[in-house]
Amino acid sequence: MAIFKDERDLTLTAAGADAAAAFDHAIEGYLSMAPDAGDRLKSVFAADGDMAMAHCLKAYFMMLMAMGGLVPKAQAAAAKAQELAVDATPRERMHAEAAGLWTARDMEGAAMVWEDILLDHPRDILAARLAHFANFYSGDARRLRDSVNRIMPAWDADVPGFSYLKGMQAFGFEEAGDYARAQAAAETAIGLEPNDPWATHAYAHVMEMQDRQADGLAWIDRLRPHWTKANNFQNHIWWHEALMMLDQGRMGDVMAQYDAHVAAPESEEYLDLCNAASLLQRLEIMGIDVGDRWRPIADKVRGRTEEHLLTFVDLHYALALAAVGDEKVHEMREFMAAYEGPEDDSNLPIMKALGVPLVDALIAYRDGRYDDVAASMIPVRYEIWQMGGSHAQRDLFDLILIDAARKAGNGNLTRALLAERRAAMPHDHWTEKTFAEAAA
Ligand SMILES: [Fe+2]
Repeated sequence: MAIFKDERDLTLTAAGADAAAAFDHAIEGYLSMAPDAGDRLKSVFAADGDMAMAHCLKAYFMMLMAMGGLVPKAQAAAAKAQELAVDATPRERMHAEAAGLWTARDMEGAAMVWEDILLDHPRDILAARLAHFANFYSGDARRLRDSVNRIMPAWDADVPGFSYLKGMQAFGFEEAGDYARAQAAAETAIGLEPNDPWATHAYAHVMEMQDRQADGLAWIDRLRPHWTKANNFQNHIWWHEALMMLDQGRMGDVMAQYDAHVAAPESEEYLDLCNAASLLQRLEIMGIDVGDRWRPIADKVRGRTEEHLLTFVDLHYALALAAVGDEKVHEMREFMAAYEGPEDDSNLPIMKALGVPLVDALIAYRDGRYDDVAASMIPVRYEIWQMGGSHAQRDLFDLILIDAARKAGNGNLTRALLAERRAAMPHDHWTEKTFAEAAA
């Protein structure tokens, strides 16, 4: 083993320059959400089967899929990385440690290690992008924003990957509510590298949060030749486009988009399942008969009710099971209530504090016990951010609460909730229509 430099001048322990170059290529695949990122990692292993960072990346890629069945394989990769990292640099050893923590379900512990790496190595874009993921699912927008801004002084446009960092900065600013800076950062990112699905997506969030559907749709459409090259993350951009159509009241277009690009019938990826469940639920709330479209989602998640990697994801699985009246959702609820974890399972406190009451609310909603939905949701509604996901995604829970209040015949609560929503989204078609009905 020898020491090489990666594209950003970080030391990398590898068998040869070809392995180091292959590693850079794999990282670029991760950042650009290339469909062949997994194949690029295989090329690293072909060049150097004993590279600690390659085994780390394998563990990371598996954990990023948030799929319970992959966790044991990810743990094995992390263990191998730790074994090999004994002879590597301190930074690489820290990555191996983070992989070990994450695969033991301690994502918060891993995030602290990634942030520590970044203090000494602010150009470690792998640590930055992984911290971005963990910070996103912590729900803490300030963490998401500050994590990127802390390292920005070490970067400029000449450092490979700078555009991807600007895309992350855009999303951090957006979730923290700084829409002007978010938009500027996304425009810089896309100006440098139009094939950046994350920056494209950050801009779509800026438009969604500002109720600027026409601008958001134009942006997504202009960049379509680029982001449609992405892996399944492109389905999430199709979802954002559908959301803006929904805001405009174009229900037929939304349904067509769902069938063509959001349903993702071949996919088992958590984000695809969340996109599909959340769009179907929105359509139903807005009075659209979605037919038997819930069924394939419920079929895919039925065997995944004890994964509990992210409460945000669990709730979307519960949504689909409850929608088809599957008893599994009750088992899932009991499992969540009884789960004791490993103690440092980052998802454990969120599952207890938010997962259980919100699954109760989803079950009550499908049972037609609409007063119980409000009773379960209202005490936690200002804590829901702690399960992570974006403001745009979590808006689903506000919509469910409004719909339950409406169906419970609770006029005061319905009007109050709609008044909140109307202030934030004055051009939203359904909100205006429903507010007028409730006021009458
Ligand atoms: Fe999004």
